[in-house]
Amino acid sequence: MSSEPLTRPKHKTVAVLLHHPISNRTGEVITTAVTNMDIHDISRSCRTYEIDHYYLVTPIIEQKELVDRILAHWQLPRSQEWHPDRFEALSRVQLLPSFEAVRSDLEGRYPGLGLEIAMPDARPIPNQQTYAETRDRWLNEAKTGVKVLIFGTGWGVAPEFHSQVNTFLAPIYGPLGKEGYNHLSVRSAVAIILDRLFGLSR
Ligand SMILES: C[S@@+](CC[C@H](N)C(=O)[O-])C[C@H]1O[C@@H](n2cnc3c(N)ncnc32)[C@H](O)[C@@H]1O
Repeated sequence: MSSEPLTRPKHKTVAVLLHHPISNRTGEVITTAVTNMDIHDISRSCRTYEIDHYYLVTPIIEQKELVDRILAHWQLPRSQEWHPDRFEALSRVQLLPSFEAVRSDLEGRYPGLGLEIAMPDARPIPNQQTYAETRDRWLNEAKTGVKVLIFGTGWGVAPEFHSQVNTFLAPIYGPLGKEGYNHLSVRSAVAIILDRLFGLSR
């Protein structure tokens, strides 16, 4: 059996966790709070699947100060020495105030590489692509680009964001399909989706 990776990371890949614009239970657009678990757990999934950057997006200054304090703790030499895996995963995390700021950061890092914005959603949205077809398309694309995976918080990414999305990715379902429960935590959804798109365990 070949040990050749199935998905050599040709493209740059990034994950974005939006805290704005997010829907609440009544459909209003809100900003959700950043959680420590989402910083740690998603950064470790991102590191495992060779995601180049993990952006948290919130316009709230106090949340940025909080995240900066958490990240600063994990950049200390002591943290590096005692928890090298966590240190390494968290070194790819960055908080920015808006998705526009993420776009400009990526355009600065990777000049000339086009961005494809891909967003999974737990609900059906017209023209959603499967993970298998997206994985194959990305593997076979000749031109290197930046693949930007968008994840939501609260009751999901607000519809006003949808005009920014190039590729909608299908809901993950359990064994009961559309009839079953599929409200995953964002941390679980990220891990499943990264494995479907980039994992080797088949
Ligand atoms: C709506 S938020 C819920 C956040 C929640 N507070 C938590 O516990 O993490 C969950 C996000 O994870 C992703 N997600 C959750 N379930 C999913 C599913 N079944 N299929 C695809 N994406 C899903 C989507 O990005 C969604 O916006």
